[in-house]
Amino acid sequence: MQRSYGNSIESSAGAIARLRKVRDKNQRRERGGHNGFPADHKDAIVAPVRTARAQRLVVHLAGVRPVVLAAILHIACSAPNPPHCAAAVVALGRTLFFDTGLSGDGKVACATCHKPARAYTDGLARASGIAGRQGTRNTPSLLDAGRQRSLFWDGRRSRLEDQVLDPLFNRVEHGLADEAELLRKVRADARFASAVQAAYGAPANEITVQQVAGALAAFVRTLRSGPSPFDRFQSGRRDALPEAARQGWVIFDQVAHCTRCHIATTSPGEPALFTDHEFHSLAVGFARVERELPRLTARAVALHRDGVPLARDVLNDRELAELGRFVVALDPHDVGAFKTPGLRNVALTAPYMHDGSVPTLADAVDLEVYNRGARDARPLILTPVQRAELVAFVQSLTSDELAASVSKP
Ligand code: HEC
Ligand code: HEC
Repeated sequence: MQRSYGNSIESSAGAIARLRKVRDKNQRRERGGHNGFPADHKDAIVAPVRTARAQRLVVHLAGVRPVVLAAILHIACSAPNPPHCAAAVVALGRTLFFDTGLSGDGKVACATCHKPARAYTDGLARASGIAGRQGTRNTPSLLDAGRQRSLFWDGRRSRLEDQVLDPLFNRVEHGLADEAELLRKVRADARFASAVQAAYGAPANEITVQQVAGALAAFVRTLRSGPSPFDRFQSGRRDALPEAARQGWVIFDQVAHCTRCHIATTSPGEPALFTDHEFHSLAVGFARVERELPRLTARAVALHRDGVPLARDVLNDRELAELGRFVVALDPHDVGAFKTPGLRNVALTAPYMHDGSVPTLADAVDLEVYNRGARDARPLILTPVQRAELVAFVQSLTSDELAASVSKP
């Protein structure tokens, strides 16, 4: 059942080609623009973190309360930043991430939607932010977000330093009016003062938007998925997986070829993420917008023409959100295409898919089995036992650390 969504919008191909140029120009402007992290600054913070020793220190100190951290470090950081300052930047990011002060109504933090115990998701079909306003998309896990090649379901951001600011200014997320409001809130809050001083060697009332973004991004980069039973199995310990999950791995990899997109190749220091970082259309949620395609694609094109930040409309308009990658790339093949999600810890992140329309893991796996068959025009027939084995395999991707914290009463 191969549907062709491209036809109805082919007539706008010329317009799309012209507008792609506008888009590219906007993207270039954006990269160098006010959201960009000045290169020298970035190096000052990031370069020292590159050595393994510094990284260990960062991870070690990331959990330390900012006040305590400032006391441990004694000295204020200033450029060029030594490694302990990178740790202080992470600690500031951590504080900001969990603080509801950075929202229009004082009630929403990043952690409202990205809850650590749920692998940094929220358990909702679609995220709910300030004043209970509902967005259009399911909240993705932040574990390993630092290794994603593009961010958001449609990949509309490529750098965490740009990405982390989007939710702060979105009317359905943190709902801050503008950068001035963000700075007022960070600068005036006594709770941030010592953490800002430790991180950037300056009083809180001098912090910049780029520094807020740098701290949040640095914290998000420390969120890594720990080893899972499957990783131990891959490293040679057969008994790390129950028989059902071992069978499930064979089906996943060699029968259903799920690894075509959920790539399972692991290299030293780079455990598999189970994504190809690409965008594919599974037609999830597509029926809702199919008949409106000409109108919706024209709107997406107009957003680029007018240089409107995509986040505003994508998270506020459910129909537009269903166009997926098309809104970013303006390529007819990308209508309804979404980023392949990584599958680590997926047992903890129900409900599923970009719109949260699939309630359980078993349902998501069934739908994927069906979709794979439909896509290749060759039904993939699996027995109920084989489907259960597939689910058992996917469950074996839960990190030990998270499994332990979730099973606590
Ligand atoms: C109201 C709920 C909500 C809040 C608050 C929120 N997020 Fe998100 N976050 C989401 C949703 C939903 C998406 C996916 C949106 C999309 O793809 O269009 C997302 C996506 C992301 C991503 C991209 C992950 C990926 O793999 O593509 C990162 C990183 C992220 N958020 C970090 C943050 C940070 C940092 C904050 C705080 C400044 C924050 N979020 C606040 C709901 C939220
Ligand atoms: C052609 C690439 C491709 C193949 C092959 C593929 N997937 Fe997916 N998978 C995706 C994409 C893209 C999504 C997200 C779709 C959406 O939200 O619209 C997804 C979503 C999922 C989800 C939900 C994850 C979440 O966080 O919401 C699960 C579970 C999953 N796939 C399992 C499988 C299994 C099992 C197979 C093999 C039977 C498989 N996939 C084959 C691309 C693929």
